[in-house]
Amino acid sequence: MKIVIGADHGGYALKKVIVDWLQKNGHIVTDVGCDSTESVDYPDYALKTVEDILRGDSECGILICGTGIGMSIAANRHYGIRAANCFDENTAALSREHNNANILCLGARVVDESKAIDMVKIWLVTEFAGGRHLTRIEKFSS
Ligand code: RB5
Repeated sequence: MKIVIGADHGGYALKKVIVDWLQKNGHIVTDVGCDSTESVDYPDYALKTVEDILRGDSECGILICGTGIGMSIAANRHYGIRAANCFDENTAALSREHNNANILCLGARVVDESKAIDMVKIWLVTEFAGGRHLTRIEKFSS
């Protein structure tokens, strides 16, 4: 799968772990930064990630900041983006099944590395259920 990933300084370390896991598991990853723990502004990386998806270069994305909150708020300002800030495997799976989320947001200060990888694993394989959930999504997004 083609996946774009972005993080701010708070999510930089977790981004490296996730990029490594994705590549080892055969995914094609576009890493839009950031590239160190030096303080940056999360909206800049949310925008780069969103643009990659809206151009059709990646099928879905992962955004990481300290809490996942700033990234989800910034990403969801864009039509066609459904960014879900999740905190365990259940919310990660339901964000796909019910909301057809195309960006998974993670808080590096909220979930540890092992939990984050488990969430990414289930998020990538869970399919959108459609039906009544599609009707609901169509009320705000294409
Ligand atoms: C950065 O300190 C922090 O505010 C950011 O990573 C994020 O948690 C914002 O929502």
